[in-house]
Parts: sequence; structure tokens; C-alpha cells
Amino acid sequence: MKNITISTNIKVYSDRTELPEDIFSLLIKAEEAAVKAYAKYSNFKVGAAVLLNNGTIINGNNQENAVFPSGLCAERTAVFYASSQFPEVPIHKIAITAINNQNPLKIPVPPCGSCRQVLLEYEKKFNQPIEVIMAGETGEIFVVSSVSELLPCTFDGEFLK
Ligand code: THU
Repeated sequence: MKNITISTNIKVYSDRTELPEDIFSLLIKAEEAAVKAYAKYSNFKVGAAVLLNNGTIINGNNQENAVFPSGLCAERTAVFYASSQFPEVPIHKIAITAINNQNPLKIPVPPCGSCRQVLLEYEKKFNQPIEVIMAGETGEIFVVSSVSELLPCTFDGEFLK
């Protein structure tokens, strides 16, 4: 028997003023998207902004439904639209943030497990890491250089060959 330890490397910026300009501007797009979320049931409004290799930025937000599982997270809304419009253009970065009016978010919002899996698919498809930027409404901002940092021990298409 042996143990293996898998670690995650996270860059932690103390607040928005410390961010490099390109990350800051993508985060602003995610904030704008969060405002427009349809989060009637949770009141948790999530925004995502995806930067493609060709410079295009695509926004998405969560879309909820009275049949709860029929809704979709912000990240997947954005990434699926990006892939549908630009199927051959790799994804460079994604910024994620949220608004919780009841309890303003002081810690970064990470993508859920399903969104990590979906993001990983495009990372593998293009063989290019996707940088993930995670922010709350205030406070620290987390940046990981690759989705695989957030989803180690991955299941991917290699298993299906
Ligand atoms: N949500 C997202 O949009 N992204 C995540 O990664 C976490 C959760 C949404 C789904 C639902 O509309 C609301 O936040 C509460 O879970």
C-alpha cells in the first residue's frame, strides 16, 4: 500500500485592486452577467465570463427553473454557448462570481462539480489549460492555472477508447 497526495496550487489576490488588468476586466464581465441571472428560486445570482483564444468574451449566468434540475449553472451556460458558436476556438480563461443579497459573499465562488467536469472536457479537447478565476463580492480572489487543479483524479474521454 502507498499513499498519494494531490495538491492544488491557488494564486490568492487580496482583493480586486491587486489583480492584473486582463483578469480584472474579465471579472467585471462576470459581475455584469451575475446581475442578469435568472435565480428566482435561490436568489443566488452567478455570473461567468469566458475568454476565448481569439479574444472573444462570452458571458453566462445561472438560469433556474421551477423543476429545479432543469436549470443550469452560469459556467455551463457560458461555456456551452461559447462552444456552440466557436467550436474550434480554445477557451483561455473563465471568471466566476456571484451575488447573494441575503449574505454578501466575502469568499471566492468556486465552480460546482458538474461545471468542473464540463470545463475539463474543453481543456482536454483543445489540450490547453483553462485558467479559472473565482471571486466573491468582496475579499480575496482565487486563480488556478488549470481546471485539472480543481478536478484531480479525472474521468475523461481517454477511458472510453
Ligand atoms: N450555481 C452556478 O451557477 N454555478 C456554480 O458553480 C454553483 C451554483 C447556481 C445554480 C443555482 O442556480 C444556484 O447557483 C444555487 O445553487
